[in-house]
Parts: sequence; C-alpha cells; structure tokens
Amino acid sequence: MEHNYSLQPFNTFGIEVKAKYFATFSNTRELETCLKAQPNEPLLILGGGSNLLFTQDFDGLVLRNQITGISIVKENDQNIYVKVGAGEIWHEFVLHCIEKNWAGLENLSLIPGSVGASPMQNIGAYGVEIKDVFHELSAYHIESGAIHTFSKEQCQFGYRESIFKRALKNQYIIIDVTFALAKNPKLQTSYGAIQNELDIKGIQNPTIRDISNAVIAIRQSKLPDPAILGNAGSFFKNPVVDSATFSSIQQKFPDVAHYVVSANEIKLAAGWLIERAGLKGYRQGNCGVHQKQALVLVNYGGSLGQQILDLSTHIIHTILDQFGIMLEREVNIIPSYENIV
Ligand code: FAD
Ligand code: EPU
Repeated sequence: MEHNYSLQPFNTFGIEVKAKYFATFSNTRELETCLKAQPNEPLLILGGGSNLLFTQDFDGLVLRNQITGISIVKENDQNIYVKVGAGEIWHEFVLHCIEKNWAGLENLSLIPGSVGASPMQNIGAYGVEIKDVFHELSAYHIESGAIHTFSKEQCQFGYRESIFKRALKNQYIIIDVTFALAKNPKLQTSYGAIQNELDIKGIQNPTIRDISNAVIAIRQSKLPDPAILGNAGSFFKNPVVDSATFSSIQQKFPDVAHYVVSANEIKLAAGWLIERAGLKGYRQGNCGVHQKQALVLVNYGGSLGQQILDLSTHIIHTILDQFGIMLEREVNIIPSYENIV
C-alpha cells in the first residue's frame, strides 16, 4: 500500500493531489485485504478518474479497480451475454465487441474510463445509454463483504443516474458487468451528426464498425483529449424542464437548443445555454470553458480543483440569472460528504 501518493496520473483533469493511502486490486480477495488494512479510513473507488474533480488531497484510502476479464456467459439466437471485469477499459471493450461483431455498444465508442464505472451514471452518447444493453452486475457490499447481483430494474437507471449514485451511494463496489449484446445489429443512426458523418463518407449500408468510426470522428472534432487538455467531459447535465418552463424560455430565446423527452419533459442543451451566456472560451486563471464545447471545463495546466469548482459555481449563477435554470454538476466532486464512505 502506498502512502501520500500522487493522484495526478489517475484523474483526467490532471489535478495534482495526494491520497493518504493508495492501492490497486485485481480481485475481491485483494480488495478485502486492502479494506481490512485501513478499516476506518474514508474510501474512494477509482476507475479511470474521468468523471471526477479532486478539490483537495484525499484524506483516506483510494483503491483503483483493476479487475479484468471478458467471458461469454450464455447465448441464444438473438443475444450474446458477455461478462466484463470492472477494471477493463471501456473503449477497449467496445472495440473488442466490434471485432467480434457483437452489436449494441458502437455508439458508446471512445468514452473514457472503466467498465465498472459505466453503470454508475448509466453512460450515454449518440442516442444510446448502457441501460439499453445492460443485463446485470455483481457488486461487493462494503459493510457485509457479500457479493450481490443487480438486475437492470434494480439499478434504477435514468439520464446519468443509477441507484449507486442515490439510495445505495458508497455502499457497493462494482466487480463485473454483464451486457446482452445483439447478434443482429439494430443500428442507431437517428442522432443527426452520425448520419451526416456516414453521408460524408458515402456509406449507405453501415456496419457497427462504420458507426463506431463515425462516433469517434464526431467526438474527436469537439471533445478535448484528456491526454492533451485536462477535462472530465460534460461538467453539467443537460437540464430537463417541463413544457410550461420550456415555453417561457422559448418565447425569449426562439432558437434555444432542445430535445423532446416526453409529453411534459424537454431537455435543454446546457452547452447552448453556456455559449449563449457568453461563457464559451471564458477563462479564469489556468482553467476555463472549452472553446469548441461549452459544456466541457478544461485545465490549461496547473489549475487547482477548487478553481475549477469555483468556475463551475460562476457558470451555475450566470445561467440561473440569465435563464432561470439551475444547472446540476455531472462530474463527481471529491471529497464531498456524499462521495466519502
Ligand atoms: P471514475 O471517474 O474513476 O469514477 C466515477 C465515479 O464512479 C466515482 O464516484 C467513483 O468512486 C465511482 N466508481 C468508479 N468505479 C467504480 C466501481 N467499480 N464501483 C463503484 N464505484 C465506482 N460520460 C458519458 O456518459 N458520456 C459521454 O459521452 C462521455 N464523454 C466523455 C468524454 C471525455 C473526454 C471525458 C474525459 C469524460 C466523458 N464522460 C462521458 C465521463 C466519463 O468518461 C464516464 O462517466 C465514465 O464512465 C467514468 O469512468 P471512470 O472509470 O473514469 O470513473
Ligand atoms: N451546443 C452549443 N454550444 C456548445 C455546445 C453545444 O450551442 O458549445 C448545443 C448545440 O446546439 C448542439 C447541442 O448543444 O447541437 C448538443 O451538443 P452535443 O451534441 O455536443 O451534445 P451535449 O448535449 O453537449 C451530450 C452528453 C455527452 C455526449 C453527447 C453526445 C450530457 C451532459 N452530455 O452532450 O456526454 O457525448 O451528448 O451524445 O448529456 C459526458 O457525459 O461527459 C458527455 C460528453
């Protein structure tokens, strides 16, 4: 076990903070050994560190999940059920599925991070969320040491939501995830930019690899690569409002970017709100709002986590003043009471 260990290589914002204790685990036996060694310390489970912001040193135990392995657990005419260790790298797993022609994850190409974190916020992109292909997961119950299985219904997935962020927060460590992938692809190209990208390349009958390549090209054109510019993807969720609220906003801003979710739910594009508020490219010290995608906050180098948190607070206040809408952070702020076991 390491002591006073730098977490800079383990968070995609590239924030320089230290963990009081740090260790990795590759199976549940090693996990238990680590937990027993420091039973009274606050605990943080780390995957790829691509959805969190450290605002200070972590005064506790950080455990990095490195459980690997991909295996087929069952199959039928339509589906193949694939169990994946939580420490596998998400995008490498997606590429593995494409190689095997197992369909369903291609729209989720190039999302950073680990497989084990993917159910935490039901990761989503380009018209697909993991709940669409999720079968079940196994998780280690920290208090009892038991391994419990969670079905899709039990995970209570929503937009960037699951039970592990709410009622069961900090109670479980996800060990593996099983996906029900399709033998016959049902391609999801309704997200406009994908169709555009296929048209540009003159692809009429796309394969899952074509979809993956299109998604990769779109993402690379607007999202900063954390290896070059520190970031954690979208910093805020897109706010969902009711039709009455939406109508009043649309009256004042007829071109407000939005998607209809249901009869009384409209999702607004937070990136549009931030850009319209004049904050796209805005900079405070060594951090700022990304020039190409206003929903992404970036570390130009040497920023403190607290400075990025302060920038996000400034954005929340500005959007509330100008549009009457309260943005909610998507990125996990650490430490917070809620994030510490
Ligand atoms: P971490 O950041 O390490 O952890 C996130 C949270 O999950 C923490 O609270 C952590 O304690 C907890 N956690 C992690 N692993 C486990 C586990 N095994 N058991 C229990 N708790 C655990 N997200 C999207 O949904 N869609 C996108 O399109 C998208 N694009 C992105 C683009 C960029 C450039 C970046 C940097 C991020 C993007 N993200 C996106 C966010 C991020 O990639 C996902 O949230 C990803 O699932 C985080 O994985 P991670 O392993 O890095 O999690
Ligand atoms: N927009 C602007 N200005 C900007 C950015 C966006 O006006 O600077 C408007 C545009 O009208 C655009 C619309 O917002 O058409 C939507 O933008 P984009 O397609 O880039 O997607 P997003 O809503 O900003 C969401 C997810 C991303 C995901 C993409 C693609 C959230 C919080 N973010 O972003 O997920 O990759 O859609 O599906 O839902 C993440 O969660 O970290 C993440 C990157």
